[in-house]
Amino acid sequence: MIQAGDKLPSVPVKLVDANGVSDADSAGILGQGRVVLFGVPGAFTPTCDTSHLPGFIGAADRIKAGGVNRIVCATVNDHHVVKAWAERSDALGKIDFIADAHGRLAEALGLAKNFGDLGRRYARFAMIARDGVVQQVFVQDVAGVTVSGAPAILLALQGEVVA
Ligand code: BEZ
Repeated sequence: MIQAGDKLPSVPVKLVDANGVSDADSAGILGQGRVVLFGVPGAFTPTCDTSHLPGFIGAADRIKAGGVNRIVCATVNDHHVVKAWAERSDALGKIDFIADAHGRLAEALGLAKNFGDLGRRYARFAMIARDGVVQQVFVQDVAGVTVSGAPAILLALQGEVVA
């Protein structure tokens, strides 16, 4: 699994943002300035849809005010599904999305996890990176959204320890 100090990998993905859908490279999306990346098991899945993503949408202005250039949500879904989720969640302009349909970035990060009927998806996580280098990673090992959620990331950005 990727750790603090590691460089973020370069793999082909689709970027879904306020400009639409484009082919992109993960390192290009994540490599400039201070970036918060969070990964979810799936677009429209219950906890991702009602808690994890809305938490980052609601905190986006405060996170960016703390010096973050970009907040990115990664999920192993195709770009049509990701675009529909982003639009329905009113996230575009606040959160950019990586549609990682093949799970290439999830596997390269060492953050892919088997979710039974859903197949291999992202383990729920969040990380802070600067100029393409990971600073902190928070993997959600228990149910729900605690260490990987927006409040925990806000605390981490303020330099506080998150249990
Ligand atoms: C969710 O609630 O987000 C979820 C449920 C089952 C598998 C993965 C995610």
